[in-house]
Amino acid sequence: MRHLLGNRKLLTLLTLLVLASQCVRSLNPSLNDDVLGLIVFKADLQDPKRKLSSWNQDADTPCNWFGVKCNPRSNRVTELTLDGLSLSGKIGRGLLQLQFLHKLSLARNNLTGTITAINLTRLANLRVVDLSDNSLSGSIPEDFFEECGSLRSLSLAKNKFSGKLPGSLSSCAATLASLDLSSNQFSGDLPPGVWGLNGLRSLDVSDNLLEGGIPKGIEALNNLRAINLSKNRFAGEVPSGIGSCLLLRSIDFSENLFSGYLPETMQKLILCNYLSMSDNLLAGEVPSWIGEMIRLETLDLSRNNFSGEIPREMGKLESLQVLNFSANGLTGSLPESMSNCRSLLSLDFSRNSIGGGLPVWIFGSALEKAWQLENKLSQSSNTLANLQVLDLSENEFSGEIASCIGVLSSLKLLNLSGNSLVGPIPRTVGDLKELDVLDLSKNKLNGSIPLEIGGATSLGELRLERNFLSGQIPNSVENCSQLTTLILSHNSLTGPIPAVLAKLTNLQDVDFSFNSLTGSLPKQLANLPNLYSFNISHNHLQGELPAGGFFNTISPSSVSGNPALCGAAVNKSCPAVLPKPIVLNPNSSSDSSTGVLPQSLGHKRIILSISALIAIGAAAVIVVGVIAITVLNLRVRSSTSRSAAALTFSGGDDFSQSPTTDANSGKLVMFSGEPDFSTGTHALLNKDCELGRGGFGAVYRTVLRDGRPVAIKKLTVSSLVKSQDDFEREVKKLGKVRHPNLVALEGYYWTTSLQLLISEFVSSGSLYKHLHEGPGGHFLSWNERFNIILGTAKGLAHLHQSNIIHYNIKSSNILIDSSGEPKVGDYGLARLLPMLDRYVLSSKIQSALGYMAPEFACKTVKITEKCDIYGFGVLLLEVVTGKRPVEYMEDDVVVLCDMVRGALEDGRVEECVDGRLQGNFPVEEAVPVMKLGLICTSQVPSNRPDMGEVVNILELIRCPSEGQEELV
Ligand SMILES: *[C@@H]1O[C@H](CO)[C@@H](O)[C@H](O)[C@H]1NC(C)=O
Ligand SMILES: *[C@@H]1O[C@H](CO)[C@@H](O)[C@H](O)[C@H]1NC(C)=O
Ligand SMILES: *[C@@H]1O[C@H](CO)[C@@H](O)[C@H](O)[C@H]1NC(C)=O
Ligand SMILES: *[C@@H]1O[C@H](CO)[C@@H](O)[C@H](O)[C@H]1NC(C)=O
Repeated sequence: MRHLLGNRKLLTLLTLLVLASQCVRSLNPSLNDDVLGLIVFKADLQDPKRKLSSWNQDADTPCNWFGVKCNPRSNRVTELTLDGLSLSGKIGRGLLQLQFLHKLSLARNNLTGTITAINLTRLANLRVVDLSDNSLSGSIPEDFFEECGSLRSLSLAKNKFSGKLPGSLSSCAATLASLDLSSNQFSGDLPPGVWGLNGLRSLDVSDNLLEGGIPKGIEALNNLRAINLSKNRFAGEVPSGIGSCLLLRSIDFSENLFSGYLPETMQKLILCNYLSMSDNLLAGEVPSWIGEMIRLETLDLSRNNFSGEIPREMGKLESLQVLNFSANGLTGSLPESMSNCRSLLSLDFSRNSIGGGLPVWIFGSALEKAWQLENKLSQSSNTLANLQVLDLSENEFSGEIASCIGVLSSLKLLNLSGNSLVGPIPRTVGDLKELDVLDLSKNKLNGSIPLEIGGATSLGELRLERNFLSGQIPNSVENCSQLTTLILSHNSLTGPIPAVLAKLTNLQDVDFSFNSLTGSLPKQLANLPNLYSFNISHNHLQGELPAGGFFNTISPSSVSGNPALCGAAVNKSCPAVLPKPIVLNPNSSSDSSTGVLPQSLGHKRIILSISALIAIGAAAVIVVGVIAITVLNLRVRSSTSRSAAALTFSGGDDFSQSPTTDANSGKLVMFSGEPDFSTGTHALLNKDCELGRGGFGAVYRTVLRDGRPVAIKKLTVSSLVKSQDDFEREVKKLGKVRHPNLVALEGYYWTTSLQLLISEFVSSGSLYKHLHEGPGGHFLSWNERFNIILGTAKGLAHLHQSNIIHYNIKSSNILIDSSGEPKVGDYGLARLLPMLDRYVLSSKIQSALGYMAPEFACKTVKITEKCDIYGFGVLLLEVVTGKRPVEYMEDDVVVLCDMVRGALEDGRVEECVDGRLQGNFPVEEAVPVMKLGLICTSQVPSNRPDMGEVVNILELIRCPSEGQEELV
């Protein structure tokens, strides 16, 4: 027979023989039944690793075959253990031959098909069956357990079994100790017999599609040590009978639909060390009797509907290692008694409404820290020194993060995101050498990222987004070589992206968007091998994007909002030299007529011609103007007695048409009441009465007959002025705008060759004069300066509300009245020009050197009211620093906002405050005000706040909101 076996045909024959085993025996009585059974069993399998090569049909006995154990006396196979051999195929009927099999373990293979070949009636000695982790399918035959025999342990876990569990299971009541049907697709109710398996020690039906309730009869399972019903659709209340299963050590009912309250009987389960009810619909308070379950090591009530405060009795759970109450409706604060839970490794209270300061018993108070230092950090004084996971995210914690957080030296995860924490990130985070995840995002933290962060050398994930962090990204991150995720978006970070980032080769996800980062991108970043997301959008970065690697495929949205960036991803080629966006011309006179734009813009010729036009026009007008004003005054005078036809007086909006509009008999309109100039002509002609000159003309002072002074602006742009109708419409609109912080326009005078604007006279001169030409002795105090900034902001906010863009903000256009209130003047004059041409505008505003928003130099960017915000930002910095927007040194040009930005990055921004204040200013106001100035001067218009926001921020700076609780 030897030479014939090995041939598959014969094997099939043999299978037939096995099925009629008497025949086989009669054929060769010495041939072991077990050899035959196993060979046939093997024939149904694929054995890619040839683990069963020792299974040779020529053998007399299988007892030395791989995976086979025999009873040494009978030489019959008692154990077949073929775990993890990558076997595939199906479990064949050859097994039925193994009459004396006690243990069958085929776990962790790739077996398919059903289990109909396993017949407990025929394999009456089977005690342990482990078929877990295969791909077996089908349902368990209804009579499978009919003759349960001596079955003690059955695992069908991690297969693809489906259907209902057979009722015959109840037959196993006497013997079955362990039943693991987890991770299949069993469905329907558990057969009632399950609850009568009173020999059962361990029941795991988790991760199926089972449903129904748990009967009170569960109390019959009084040998039960562990029950896992997790991940099913069980519903109803947790029966109080569970309290009678006194030997229970592990209860996992998580991820079901259990509702109601935790039954009080559970407090009798004093051996229980694992209790998870996570992800159900349980409600009520966390019971105080939980403190009786003193062996608890894991307590997970997360994702339910528990409410109320956390009971003090939690403090009795001294063995507790893992505590998870996340995502409930818990309120109050964390009980201090919990400082007794010294074994805690993981604490998760995230997503509740727990408030107050961060619990002192976790973090230690400053006092305790001092004490600990004195005692050289003696072991006992460390409350939760073993804590590895601390998640208090998405709650209502307030106050600062205690600086002694560094004593939690085992921390691997610290998540405090989504609270209302204030103050700086403690430097001691650098002591957390085991820290893998640090998430402080979505708080109100300020200050800079501490250099010491580099001490947290295990850090894999750092998330600080959506705070108020400022300063630079510290180079010390270089030491966090494990970093994969670095999210710092939505802060106020400044300075460059550190080149050392290129050394963090594990980096995958980087987000610096919505900050104020400057400079160009380090080329070496292209070498980061694992990068899959790098978002630097909405910063002030410039220059060329790195080429190669990830950067060849970077999405445009990751780099957008950086107007000065160039490269393929932003669809903009890089020029050899970047034009400077701000027009700087130290030689331009304060009068606008000689304004020149940089040659790089290529419009020099046009500008010059327009400028020349203006200059010529202005010269002509001065002559005509002198005459006209004389006439005007004469006529106004005579009008009071004779109502000259040439003059029209009008109240409010009611304009009537002047009969003549030639140069000599113009139209005078006062918006309110009668014009009544009492001063002689000499007053207007007299150079002494000239108040100043600007881009749009010279301003003179004169007095109405009632003694009220007014300012008269003689427009020097007449050659550009619109038609009379347009002019009147625009002036009328400007005249309607009234605000305590705006210089009121009171009237106008029109002829084709001369236009005068008559406005409120403001007594104390311009802000420019106060700041830069202040009389020796009195300088503006901090309070005066702050008021000026705030008032100016309010005035501008009102203008913008009225849809008027100022276009020409500068300190000489801000006037100060006798009570120190600022009034914004000269607004909207650009509207009087026939076209809002940006080159005309920039030449007019050339005098406003340093105030001009960069978009004026950029043809493609629409000019909006955001250009005023830029000018306001410069003005704000000017007021705080007392320095001109652009100062010309011997061989250097200093641009104010660049200087302040630089100082801020170097952490010495306070030094920028006007030296004449001699330290008499509140730092907590001055620094944020300067930061606001820098934000207003963002290069990108959309990054600048709107004026309403500016007013709100200023008011907040002046009186910071209350309710930031102090840490005890
Ligand atoms: C299991 O079998 C399937 C198909 O028969 C095959 O794709 C898979 O790689 C196998 N897995 C193992 C661990 O052998
Ligand atoms: C097991 O074998 C017995 C006797 O041969 C038979 O009556 C029973 O139906 C079989 N059960 C299964 C589940 O195949
Ligand atoms: C219960 O079963 C689930 C799913 O099978 C598993 O993830 C969990 O760890 C089990 N619980 C216990 C306490 O073993
Ligand atoms: C949670 O409990 C609150 C009362 O404490 C109740 O109003 C709410 O409906 C409950 N939510 C669910 C999903 O059961």
